[in-house]
Amino acid sequence: MQMECLGRLWSYSCCFDGVQSWKLLILVGIVSVVFVVWKKDGKYRAKRTGLPLGTLGWPFIGETLEFISCGYSTRPESFMDKRRRLYGKVFKSHLLGSPTIVSTDPEVSKVVLQNDGRIFVPSYPKSLNELMGKSSILLLNGNMQKKLHGLIGSFLKSPQLKEQITVDIEKYVLDSMRSWEDGQVVYIQDETKKIAFQVLLKALMSLNPGDELEYLKQEFRKFISGLVSIPVKLPGTRLYKSLQAKANMVKMVHRIIEDRKENYNNNGSRQEDVLDVLLHETNNITGHFTRDLISDNMIDLMIPGEDSVPMLMTLAVHYLTSCPLALQQLQEENMKLKESKEGKKEPVTWSDYMSLPFTQNVITETLRLGNIITGVLRKSLQDIEIKGHLIPKGWCVFTYFRSIHLDEDNYESPYKFNPWRWQEKDPTGSSFTPFGGGHRLCPGLEIARLEASIFLHLLVTRYSWEAEEDSVVSFPTVHMKKNMPIKVKKFTSFS
Ligand code: HEM
Repeated sequence: MQMECLGRLWSYSCCFDGVQSWKLLILVGIVSVVFVVWKKDGKYRAKRTGLPLGTLGWPFIGETLEFISCGYSTRPESFMDKRRRLYGKVFKSHLLGSPTIVSTDPEVSKVVLQNDGRIFVPSYPKSLNELMGKSSILLLNGNMQKKLHGLIGSFLKSPQLKEQITVDIEKYVLDSMRSWEDGQVVYIQDETKKIAFQVLLKALMSLNPGDELEYLKQEFRKFISGLVSIPVKLPGTRLYKSLQAKANMVKMVHRIIEDRKENYNNNGSRQEDVLDVLLHETNNITGHFTRDLISDNMIDLMIPGEDSVPMLMTLAVHYLTSCPLALQQLQEENMKLKESKEGKKEPVTWSDYMSLPFTQNVITETLRLGNIITGVLRKSLQDIEIKGHLIPKGWCVFTYFRSIHLDEDNYESPYKFNPWRWQEKDPTGSSFTPFGGGHRLCPGLEIARLEASIFLHLLVTRYSWEAEEDSVVSFPTVHMKKNMPIKVKKFTSFS
């Protein structure tokens, strides 16, 4: 842009008389030298201070508009790709109101995630903070976050939950499939949202399908629609409506808590869901969980039921549809399990599902290519240097998983759905982080994998399908444009 202006100035100078044009030529020369020195000095200063290269863009808005417009395209990572080519895998920018260091380098991102709580704390846009509430696990730090994470994580990993949730998931998937007529068009994204919400509400508060669950689902959808919105709380704004929906949900969770406390008088040791576990903690001598902390977290824990888990199942169906060879191998593996279990008249258990190697590879590859959570945001509490890059105190760090998952340096033909790549590759390395890492590693990762395994098992052993035209949209969250319509055909043995 500046070079274009200088060019224009030069052509104007040609219209002046001799002396005038010489003066102008000298002026242009000086301006050019100053411009080049300023640009070079910027790079030099960046090198000297260790601050990564990059540009902060426009005052106030920074580079946010370009970031969002790339988000709506089919390649949201193009924003990062362009800057990676210019500045390297770690660069500076100004996004969503903050100066930000973007990391698309697995080693740098790993250090950031591992130093959560000490050097970095979560940092989200204002509307998100407002809606989640200050006692949300996603925003809490220090001992409180550790305590909550530990309690939720241990319950989700307990053998008792594993057994119960396997039965629940199978039941909800089969209930949903029961209404699928032969030749009918089924919207996979809608079906999986219904299933995952039921599964989660059962694990969180022992809520079964019915009026209460429908009410929560309806309010929850209003709540979630304001998570990425303009931070204005006036009546009629999206944020205002979302806050009202949250208040309605909190009221309901409070009522469930009161009912539960009465119930405890008869059965004090009940530990059947996440709510029991957290309420039990409030009764301990060391317990310090307030009613508001519990209800805030109950509501935040519903997010994966509406968003991430259904998208994992939907995207798996989407990718399998375009890769018949993978679908066939998945079907063979699952048919074998089904026949062997039916022969022995045994139920399929959590560990049967989780140890199907090809099915797990399909899920891993879906997580890599689908990038359901594109990355996480942190704020630095102090100046810190990682791999020679300075992250100044008060700046945000955006660890952008999507670019790492789609980087040719980490994955051959990264845009290709190739579940076989995981036969040799380790899905626990730092270049594969769909569930985050460090202290905040997702405590629901096994539940997410289990739900996807059961859904795929019941789908491919009962149905074949033809998918209608659809495409993946990545902004503000990953979803299918037309909800993933497929025309299903029941296998004759199940008709
Ligand atoms: C495909 C499904 C899922 C994906 C891709 C996913 C991804 C993630 C990621 C990336 C984080 C880290 C956030 C951060 O570092 O700030 C996270 C945290 C979390 N996830 Fe998940 N998740 C999924 C399913 C679930 C499920 C099923 C549950 C609960 C049953 C769950 C509960 C949580 C909780 C409570 C945290 C916060 C942990 C903390 O801050 O200590 N997630 N998840």
